[in-house]
Formats: sequence, structure tokens, C-alpha cells
Amino acid sequence: MTTPITHQQIVLGVTGSIACYKAADLASKLTQAGAAVDVILTDAAARFVTPFTFQAVTGRPVYTDLWDERGHIRHVQLGEQANLLVIAPATAHTIAKLAHGLADNLLTVTALAARCPVLLAPAMDGGMYEHPATQANIRLLQERGVTMIGPVSGRMASGLTGLGRMVEPAELLAHIRLKLGENGVLRGRKLIITAGPTQEPLDPVRYLSNYSSGKQGVALAQAALDAGAAVTLIAGPLQVAVPLGVTHIPVLTAEQMKNAVLAAIQDADALLMAAAVADFRPAHQAEQKIKKTDQGPEMVIELTRNPDILAAVKAQREETRRPHLVLGFAAETQDVLAYGQEKLIRKGLDFIAINDVSRPDAGFAVDQNQITLLGREGVIAEIPLQDKSAVAAQIIHYLAQALV
Ligand code: C5P
Repeated sequence: MTTPITHQQIVLGVTGSIACYKAADLASKLTQAGAAVDVILTDAAARFVTPFTFQAVTGRPVYTDLWDERGHIRHVQLGEQANLLVIAPATAHTIAKLAHGLADNLLTVTALAARCPVLLAPAMDGGMYEHPATQANIRLLQERGVTMIGPVSGRMASGLTGLGRMVEPAELLAHIRLKLGENGVLRGRKLIITAGPTQEPLDPVRYLSNYSSGKQGVALAQAALDAGAAVTLIAGPLQVAVPLGVTHIPVLTAEQMKNAVLAAIQDADALLMAAAVADFRPAHQAEQKIKKTDQGPEMVIELTRNPDILAAVKAQREETRRPHLVLGFAAETQDVLAYGQEKLIRKGLDFIAINDVSRPDAGFAVDQNQITLLGREGVIAEIPLQDKSAVAAQIIHYLAQALV
């Protein structure tokens, strides 16, 4: 699976903090994501973790010394070739040196030579982070365009609790992905994506819903972010985590989703309606819990039609001309193409992603999907059965072609 991290040249600077052991995990995660990771350790970092650890996880040479013959030429080479410089953990001392342009070891020399984006994950103990000197240095670096990730609060090596812990590697990885995706083909574009089920309340403790997990919609949000878009995800309760960088608007009912969508699309480039919106809701919502003693042996729930969100979008779009593109989903079990085509026209869509839900291995709540992507002129692509994230990347690819 290709992400913005794949095939990137990343220099990972590691400085002397106990959080060094987490840097090995980060180096491993970046390597597994397909990056070529060149690690530079400061002397202090090498006291916490050996170069061999990083060499083992990256499969590449690790640099420590400015004064061996490799180091001296390498600083310019590494700095110039890198797509991203990450320093994690970044100590107060290294932050101070970077802020003032000091270059007394291989890492700080490389940082001066680098022309790529720089991302720092500070880690320090006690009051060091809050110290006015550190804060001033951080501000200086931020003004120069350096991105600071963390630190976060929690227990520190000294036993003190406070603000100074390095952000966890998995979260750093998400920040790196976001940073590297920033200049993708959808840079400057705003996408609204809906996902998940809706919940239609019956009384204060019960609701009607469906099995949608939100996986396909969330995968679309990640793929759009990877392509550099600004993404708003309007979603019912999800069974998967929302990707870092997404603006998440949680909703419950179809009515709430409709209102959120109509507001969000006013300045959007595209709407992708992946949510499984309930077609009906209970006609009356009881204010108190419905008791079984209130009922006879049978209970009848009266349902009323929910608004069709795409129909509302179509009406608003005729006036506002936004968004430029609308993609809907269709779950069909028979005559997949014919029903899809008809739905595309009726709902005023530019694209429709049809999944054949008669297949047990694709569609609802599972990890894989298989899609026929239809445009107004006919079939655009047959996207074969694969992970929802790979399906999402392809849908975004075709959408981006239509947007640019
Ligand atoms: O008509 P059907 O429900 O099969 O259409 C599915 C498409 O319509 C999906 O994109 C879904 O998000 C959207 N939809 C909607 N409002 C509804 C029901 C479905 O926008 N009330």
C-alpha cells in the first residue's frame, strides 16, 4: 500500500533523551512504511541506544560522527537529499542550538544544510520545556516554519508528571504522513466526506441503526489527506479511528448529518457520500424509556422517511454551484450497473461507486471492497477486490483527475 511516506528519503535525528528508545520504534515504522531512513545520533543519544539498533531496523548505515570521513561529506548530502528532517526526541539543548544556528555535531550541521521541511518532537524533563529560554527557542523555530509535535503531558523519567513527554511513535508517524502528503494533487482543495451509520432514536435508550462500520468513508478521508486535501468528515458513530488531520464533525441522526453536510459543502470542492444513512426513523421519539408493561404482546413501531441528503445537496447545488463534484455510493445486489446508472442520474451525481453487496467478502463492515466506478459517461474503472484503503486511494485518484 503506497502512502506519502513510501519512497521518501527521511533523515531521523535522535538526541539525548530517555525517549530515544521510542525513536527506534519510529525508525522501524518509517522503514516499514517504505521510507529510506538515515539516522543521525548525537553522542548523548548513542549513550541511550546504540547505532546498531537503528542500523538493524532501518537496514542502512547510521551516522554519529561529524569527523569521520563519511560524516564530513555526508552532512551536505543527507541534508540536500532529504524530503523531511525529523528530530525525535529533540532535547532542549538541540532545540536551542537549532534556534541559534549552531552547528557543532553531524545532526546540527545537517539541519543547517537541509532545505526540506523540519519536524521536531521535543522531549525533556521537569520544568525545562516551560522555561522561557526553551519557549523562546521554540517560537523562533516555529516562525522559521519548523513544525513542533508535542510534547504531551504525563509521567517523565524523573518520576515527575508534567508537560515534556515525547509524542508516541504511532502518532508521530501520522504527523509525518500528513506533512509529506501536504503537496499532493489535491492541495488547496476542500473535500467533505460522510461515513458510518446514522442512529435514529426511539426513546432515550434505544435507536435504529445499521451495521456500517465507517471503514470505507474513513479510508477515503485518509486517501484525500494523503493527496493533500483539507478534509471534513461528517460521520455517525464509527468503529475505526479518525485519521489525524481530519476535521471531524460527529453526528447521530440523518437530519443532523443533512444539516452538517449542507453547511459544509458551501465552500467545498467535492462531496463524497459514503455514509449508510438510515432511510427511515421512528415517527415518534418517546421522551421516557418505553416500558414493556406499556405494550401488549406485540409492539408496532411507526416509521417515517428520513430526508435524502443527496437530494437536498442536489437542490442546494443548483443555486450555489458548490461543490464542484459529488460522489455517491450504491449498494446493489442485482443488475448492479443499470441500477447504479439510474441512481447517478436521479440523485444528480457526477460519480457513483457501486458495490455488489451480494458478495460476502466485499462491502458492509468487512475490510475489503470491490467497486465499479461510474461517471456520467459510463464506467470509469472496475476497482478489484482489495483493502478499503487501496480502493479509497483509487477513487481519490479518479476524483482528483476530474477536479484538476
Ligand atoms: O438510494 P440509496 O440509499 O441506495 O443511495 C445511496 C447513496 O445515497 C449513498 O451515497 C448514501 O450516502 C446516500 N443517501 C443519502 N440520504 C439518504 C440515504 C442515502 O444521501 N437518506
